[in-house]
This record gives sequence, structure tokens and C-alpha cells, in this order.
Amino acid sequence: MEKLVIEGSKRLEGEICISGAKNSALAILPAAILAGSECIIKNLPAIRDVVYLRDMLLQLGAKVHIIDQDKICIDSSSIKSHKIDAELAKRMRASYYFIGALIGRFKKAEVPFPGGCEIGMRPIDLHIKGLEALGVKIKITHGVIKAKAEELVGAPIYLDVVSVGATINIMLAACRAKGITTIENAAKEPYVVDTANFLNALGANIKGAGTDVIRIKGVDFLGGCEHAIIPDQMEAGTYMVAAAASRGNVLIKNVIPTHLEAITAKLREMGVEVTEYEDSVRVAALSRPKAVNIKTLPYPGFPTDMQQPMCVLLALSEGTAIVTENIFESRFKFMDELKKMGAKIRVEGRVAIIEGVNKLSGAPITATDLRAGAAMVVAGLVADGKTVISNIGHIDRGYERLEEKLINVGARIRRIEED
Ligand code: EPZ
Repeated sequence: MEKLVIEGSKRLEGEICISGAKNSALAILPAAILAGSECIIKNLPAIRDVVYLRDMLLQLGAKVHIIDQDKICIDSSSIKSHKIDAELAKRMRASYYFIGALIGRFKKAEVPFPGGCEIGMRPIDLHIKGLEALGVKIKITHGVIKAKAEELVGAPIYLDVVSVGATINIMLAACRAKGITTIENAAKEPYVVDTANFLNALGANIKGAGTDVIRIKGVDFLGGCEHAIIPDQMEAGTYMVAAAASRGNVLIKNVIPTHLEAITAKLREMGVEVTEYEDSVRVAALSRPKAVNIKTLPYPGFPTDMQQPMCVLLALSEGTAIVTENIFESRFKFMDELKKMGAKIRVEGRVAIIEGVNKLSGAPITATDLRAGAAMVVAGLVADGKTVISNIGHIDRGYERLEEKLINVGARIRRIEED
């Protein structure tokens, strides 16, 4: 089993270049099924979930040509199947985008029900509600979502809860529905805008992505396009927090600063110096950060995916912080691992009370999910002594070349194989 071994207490100094956004790629690769001709996707992150998505596109019958390390060409004109292989799908969670994409292309889809994960139940009732509003008949048998529509007809859809996945999935199907679909209380995350931009480049007619109301006018034909995935705000945020926690000075390149506003604002509130440039941010911390309170909210609020890394910085800050996780019901599981390193944390339901300590100490810990794993890397980088992190497959799902990027800024981190 692979593990990460980190020798801590090193100031991070230098430059880190951010890769393409995992959560955009997870939507845009399935969305390519809607294209009538070739799509060139650039700035793709070299992460495990992208490999899994490529495998599923190939299984459906698409031609996928790897042009470069971060650039592929997808020709989905050869796709004949509307069924996702269960063995392939169970390796990741966000295979649900294949439902909207296959419905938009074939008016039918068979996709294994996505599992929950360590952060919560992850229901898809809003995905189903939205697709049924477009005329899709959905039934779930033996863990497979079977969907089909005689005709796709645009409709007004209100999302009871702001949901990135439901917003995007409905957009994928509505592109090819007759008439107008409106999605009210839509998610405004950058991934939603990135996916809408990709679909519009294919010839879709989507307006309002990035606002509460998205309006989609169905079209009869979608062509091909060339599209560059936006930079990953969560990867960037993770390295911003790592730089601050290590009392370092790091220039984080290839970012869109406006996507990082909530993270920047909280770091500045903690006394961390964040300087914004056109496509980079510099994070510098010379003194111990001050504790602040965090409430996770849909974009542009403080992102839930940054809650776990930020808790590591708060665990080392001066004072007591209250962190409220409003999005997922069990996203504090990693706190037990942090306590093994000396963190003083009390969890009460969706609230964590974090009393800052001067130092964490290295320990053998286990990554419970993707962002928890990232948080543990941050903790290991700044702890006294050695930290060994197991279950790092979670981390590889969302962080491209993690060790290489961190070694470039002075971290002592290596990957080992251990039984
Ligand atoms: C996306 O998950 C991201 N994943 C998550 O990132 C991210 O944490 C989340 O959005 C919130 O920003 C991908 O984009 C692949 P939601 P998603 O639907 O779409 C409830 C990471 O670490 N809900 O916005 O699954 C849900 O329970 C991952 O990169 C329903 O009730 O999240 C949650 O409380 C983790 N019914 C809230 O909405 C539904 O049908 C937001 O979930 C759907 C969601």
C-alpha cells in the first residue's frame, strides 16, 4: 500500500503552479458525450478521477486520444451504448453526470447509483427531480439508475437546496430539450460556469450560469469545440493554507483570484498576507495566525472543500475557532486523526470548536477522504517530526503531482510502498 512520509516543520518557499479543476473535468468529460464532433479538452488535471472518466468514455464507445499530458481529444460520435459499466463506475462518486449527458444525447441512460462517501449521504433526489421535470422517467433497480424519455421538454425547475451536481446534471439534459428550462436557486460555483461555457462552445444556448437563475434554450444540434478547464480553486486554496501554516512565502500561479476570494478573505482576517496578481496569488505568514470562525456555504461563501485544510491552520492559530459545516453532515471525521497529532478539537454535530495549539507532532494517520487527506498533508508539513499518511489513494483522486509540487517549495515528502 502506498503511503506518504513527511518530515515536518519546514517553511515553504518558492512557486507552485495549479492544475485544471477536478470538479470541472468531472462534469466536462461526460458532457463531451453531447458533442456531435471532436472536442479538444485542455488543462486537464492528471488525477485518478480523470483516468476513470476516460475509461468510462472508452467503454461507451468514444474515441479518446491523449494529445499531451493535459490535453485530450474526445470523439463521441462513435458512442453507441447508453449504459455505464458498474465495475468502472464504482471507482468514483461523480459518475452521475453521465445520466444528464446520456439523456441529452440518447434520451436514455443506465448509470450505477453513486455511492455516498466519508463526508455524507450525498443524495441525488434533486438530480432526479430536475430530470423528471424535463420528462424523464427514472427508476432505480438493483442499484442502477435507469432513465429514459420519449421527449425532452424544457421546464421551470426550483432546487430546494443549492446543488452543484444537480445544477450541472440538469443543464446537460436541458441543452437538448425542446423549449426553455430555468433552474432557480442554481449553484454558482466556477465549475458550473466552466461547464456552461463548454456547452455553449458546442452550440448550446445557456444564459445566467454563475447566478441564481440559469436559463437554457434547447437546441437541435451540438458540434465540437476546444476548451481549457479553469484552474482548480481547491488545489490552490490547499496550497495557500499550507504556505500560511508553514509560516512560508509561496507564489501560487495559474489561478483565478476571484475564485479564491472567500479563502483570501479568511486568511487575511487571520493576519496572513495575501497579495493578488492577475493570475497568481502570493501567500506569506511571518507570525502565528489568529483564530477566526468559519461557516461553509455555497459559492461565493467559504467552500466546504476547504473546511478540512483550513481546520489544520486553525488548530495552530492563536485563540479558539468555531467551524460550522453547513453543506455535508459528516465532514469532520478527519478530526480524530488531527487529535493524534495534538490538535485540541471538540466536535458537536456540525460544529467544531478548535482551540489553537503551538505545535502539532508527527504521527501515523489515515486519509478518510480526498480533502481530509489534503488536510493531513498540510498537518504533516508543519508538525514536529515525521508523519506517515495511509490511504493516500483518496489524495491522488484530486491532487496532481502533489509531492513534486511540494518538494519544489522545500517540503520533505516522499511516497513509499509498504505492506
Ligand atoms: C460537488 O459535489 C463537488 N464534487 C464537491 O467536491 C463539493 O464539496 C460540493 O459540490 C459542494 O460544493 C464535484 O463537483 C464532483 P452538492 P456535489 O450537490 O455536487 C445536498 C471534492 O472534495 N444535495 O452541491 O455532490 C447534499 O447532500 C468534492 O472535490 C441534496 O440534498 O454536491 C449537500 O448537502 C467533495 N440532494 C448539498 O446538497 C441532491 O440531489 C450540496 O451538495 C444533491 C445534493
